Amino acid sequence: MSEQDNSSRIPGFYRLPVAERRRLLRLRADLSEQDLATLDLGGIDTATADRVVENAIGVYALPLGVGLNFQVNGRDYLVPMAVEEPSVIAAASNAARMVREGGGFIADADEPVMTAQIEIMGVRDPAGAAARIEAASVELIALAHATLPRLVDRGGGARELEVRTFPDRLIVHVHIDCRNAMGANMVNTVAEALAERVATLADGRSGLRILTNLCDRRRVRVTARVPAAALATGGLDGAAVRDGIVAASRFAEDDPYRAATHNKGIMNGVDAVVIATGNDWRGVEAGAHAFAAADGRYRPLAIWRPEGQGETSYLCGRLEMPLAVGTVGGSLQTHAGARLAQRLLGVTDATTLAMVIASAGLASNLAALRALATDGIQRGHMALHRRQSQPMPVLEPEPTS
Ligand code: MEV
Repeated sequence: MSEQDNSSRIPGFYRLPVAERRRLLRLRADLSEQDLATLDLGGIDTATADRVVENAIGVYALPLGVGLNFQVNGRDYLVPMAVEEPSVIAAASNAARMVREGGGFIADADEPVMTAQIEIMGVRDPAGAAARIEAASVELIALAHATLPRLVDRGGGARELEVRTFPDRLIVHVHIDCRNAMGANMVNTVAEALAERVATLADGRSGLRILTNLCDRRRVRVTARVPAAALATGGLDGAAVRDGIVAASRFAEDDPYRAATHNKGIMNGVDAVVIATGNDWRGVEAGAHAFAAADGRYRPLAIWRPEGQGETSYLCGRLEMPLAVGTVGGSLQTHAGARLAQRLLGVTDATTLAMVIASAGLASNLAALRALATDGIQRGHMALHRRQSQPMPVLEPEPTS
């Protein structure tokens, strides 16, 4: 197959020395050798670290690799992944290659809406308070916009107010379109700016004013349709592997103990890209697990089903989760490595970034379930772990291209 320069398929990449991998990336992304050299120091130096956190004593780096073979909505992406666990990048790349055989990942995402929570206490007439707050929504949204004029200029801003009534408090949600920012600072600014006026309207006193990480209006969905034949291993045909993966999915759907581990496998891919692109992985984790338990029972974020019969059949997967990530602001201002990772990925809008991240999550899940349903996780995993204590790998990872 002839590959264009912008293809995410780079056969034999895993066998090359680091310098040669960098040379190939320079051909595909608009990066200089000097750019890539910033990665030798982990993408951030101690002086910068000292400006970012308190009591800084240095920097703490993670390995950064590239997830290959990713195609999302018909476009190829070289996916930066920062992770300390061997096999995550190889496994995601392998799975992305299988998904590619079925047409790649198909993804869509909600508008980048985050939610501010304003808590109001001591309300004597909750129904009346809720009615007065809702009646003042135009005024409150204008007040929110006065605090975020630049966001409004960029097409974002407060979209809607919602009042939730609890026995001891009213909670006012302000839903804010954050455009390409993750949005935590903007949302918290709005929460603080509106709290006193909302408390006055409610005839109560304001309590906490902060975003929620359960950003369920900022969801991403991704599907994959893999030809069963692409799943075959040395010992098992594709249909048997497909059925094993579906059974593994049903196990996670039936049992929260398994769902937790199933979702950990998804977060292997999600977090690696979230971290590499300078985003807040604690917020993403909090949102993912709250969403997984949203109906009162902890569930898998992705499920798998068969389509058709025999070797011409497919394995279809679908992942849905909230994903609050940005391509501007946050640590991007201070972390040259994160800026570089975003340039390598070639994504400038937060919604597309969320779709690529979710695809990495679904790829990681597919790889884990395929391994578990066939050889078991230890064989491939331990081969890669062994590389850590050997100057030369004794067992090579499964080829990723
Ligand atoms: C290991 O990092 C992740 C897995 O445990 C995920 C899973 O069990 O699905 C292999």
